[in-house]
Amino acid sequence: MGKDVIIACDFDSAEKTFAFLDKFTGRKPFVKIGMELYYAEGPSIVREIKKRGHKIFLDLKLHDIPNTVKKSMAVLSRLDVDMTNLHASGTVRMMEAAIEGLTREDGSRPILIAVTQLTSTDEESMRKDLLIEQPIADVVMHYAANAKKAGLDGVVCSPLEAGKVHDTCGKDFVTVTPGVRFADGDIGDQKRVMTPAEAKKIGSDYIVVGRPITAAADPVAAYERCVAEFVD
Ligand code: C5P
Repeated sequence: MGKDVIIACDFDSAEKTFAFLDKFTGRKPFVKIGMELYYAEGPSIVREIKKRGHKIFLDLKLHDIPNTVKKSMAVLSRLDVDMTNLHASGTVRMMEAAIEGLTREDGSRPILIAVTQLTSTDEESMRKDLLIEQPIADVVMHYAANAKKAGLDGVVCSPLEAGKVHDTCGKDFVTVTPGVRFADGDIGDQKRVMTPAEAKKIGSDYIVVGRPITAAADPVAAYERCVAEFVD
């Protein structure tokens, strides 16, 4: 899998998204469309961004009964996204159903990755709210192993976990890592962060970068800086 920088387009309208993407006149970045933008604009936003020549990670984190996930994944596959995701906590059976739904007639399909435990969930809330007693690091690795068993391509994880995920699931198992900040930048509400260069060193396959690019005075320069540190 190729190393790439994915820009999190966390905007609430097509207008703001296109005003942002219009700045990129050279290289077309890989973009992440999350729930906010997708729920605001629907599938047309995916088609339009795709038509402009961008690769798309559709971050909708599906979690439902296997049959519903399978049918929904078939719809997302027809939207021709390059990467999408689901919650590993939906079980191995749900993840297998997702792969079935996502696979097109010619055998091709988007990259499918799993969310293990959200980084907003800590050990205490896991124990109290979810009745999961194991240490969170073990739970994350178990869910990653389940994703691999179901035939998925990788997981979303903190850059700090990427090395261990590769040790457990193999170096070809994709790690997609948010929580990236420049050494001289604001960390905002992210708690555990890494620079693009550090994420590269630790073996992340894709970094997801939002505000360090979208809120920069010069977003194209900030994107090129990420690419220079992480890819080149
Ligand atoms: O602006 P920032 O770089 O913090 O954006 C990171 C992106 O990655 C956001 O879209 C956020 O929802 C997403 N994300 C995250 N941490 C996770 C999973 C996804 O920051 N564990």
